[in-house]
Amino acid sequence: MQRDPEPPAGLHPLLAGRFSPYRFDPSAAVDDHSLGLLLEAARWAPSAGNSQPWGFFTSRPGEPKHELVVRHLAPSSARWATDAGLLVVTLTRRHVGDTQLLYSEFADYDLGQAIAHMTVQAQAMGLAAHQFRAFDLEGLTKELCPNPGWAIISMIALGKAAGEPPQTRDRRTVADLLSAPWAPSE
Ligand SMILES: Cc1cc2nc3c(=O)[nH]c(=O)nc-3n(C[C@H](O)[C@H](O)[C@H](O)COP(=O)(O)O)c2cc1C
Repeated sequence: MQRDPEPPAGLHPLLAGRFSPYRFDPSAAVDDHSLGLLLEAARWAPSAGNSQPWGFFTSRPGEPKHELVVRHLAPSSARWATDAGLLVVTLTRRHVGDTQLLYSEFADYDLGQAIAHMTVQAQAMGLAAHQFRAFDLEGLTKELCPNPGWAIISMIALGKAAGEPPQTRDRRTVADLLSAPWAPSE
């Protein structure tokens, strides 16, 4: 692990400037146009066989469905996610209907990539994103009742970050990325 005071020179500013905030500005709304663009960014992501196995449930403060989602947040995420201008529940289509037949063996991989696109689009629009798993998955699944074959994977809080970015970032080194999967050579 390496503690980096700042991203390396040459990294694209949209990637270098991204971080997952622990505070959002509760007065900064995400309007319909912005919401539409965030979903378009996910929509334009590549996927295995163009299967596009992603789905979303969106809600914003003031909407009745926001309260429905917020009540399933864990205390650790409720502290900051409730203030975000937008909450996105992410879903992947793993199976065909209620069978055990895989819809796509890359479903989770493709959803992650769509979210990466959404995150970068958010950054380009002056918004920040904090992905999280700290919510009651079973309770939220019962609440939203997705179609057979679909599974809720994560949530994303998006909005205007409040406060400063973290001063350092902990990241595995590039050397570790290249060596960790294999046994050390003699
Ligand atoms: C799938 C996923 C689940 C995550 N779950 C949580 C979570 O439950 N709570 C949390 O505070 N952050 C969560 N995070 C955010 C990560 O902790 C964060 O991305 C990581 O520490 C790196 O920080 P950075 O995004 O600011 O670079 C999650 C991120 C991902 C991609």
